[in-house]
Amino acid sequence: KRIAIFASGSGSNFESIVQASRVQESGYEVVYLFSDRPKAFVLERAKKFGIEADAFSPKDFSDKIEYESKVLSLLQEKKIDLVVLAGYMRLIGPTILREFEGRIMNIHPSYLPAFPGKDAIGQALDSAALDTGVTVHFVDDGMDTGPIIEQVKIQIEKQDTYESLQEKIQKVEHELYPKTIASVAGRLGEHDQKSAT
Ligand code: GRF
Repeated sequence: KRIAIFASGSGSNFESIVQASRVQESGYEVVYLFSDRPKAFVLERAKKFGIEADAFSPKDFSDKIEYESKVLSLLQEKKIDLVVLAGYMRLIGPTILREFEGRIMNIHPSYLPAFPGKDAIGQALDSAALDTGVTVHFVDDGMDTGPIIEQVKIQIEKQDTYESLQEKIQKVEHELYPKTIASVAGRLGEHDQKSAT
């Protein structure tokens, strides 16, 4: 399956997803990176791995529909089967959703439905929760609300700081996301075979 990753930031998840696809028979290939931030570090990582990438901001377009239409046409051109959000800091609008519903995944640094939206780690610490986690889910038109695919709980210890908790969360993310992508990509395969017969 041909995967596109959308990312706005550092891209540590991008890197772990690409690496996992290259060391095992993962059943997916990351063929494209899109970033809405032309200076994002994830673009350097794509270069390092020789993965095709584009970066442009919605500000360069008259509205979100124009912006997403451009992104959608790139996805179609590259024959993308599955879109993987990895730190993409925007909501997916109806233009892309209509074409890719059920084929867009996201990872969120909490045990959803707890702590949706921005700064999930800060929210968990501020609320003095005993645990938080990581969730991989399909994307719908809400903020971190789509059907959950996989979740892992992570305990918050008394001595945890923002940094230590973030480190634990990222370690889990870097294992969980590649595995979950492989299993979703596998299921897409079954569907394709059925519809082909
Ligand atoms: C991850 O923690 C992810 O859960 C959230 O954004 C962060 C992206 O980190 N959606 P990175 O850019 O993959 O390092």
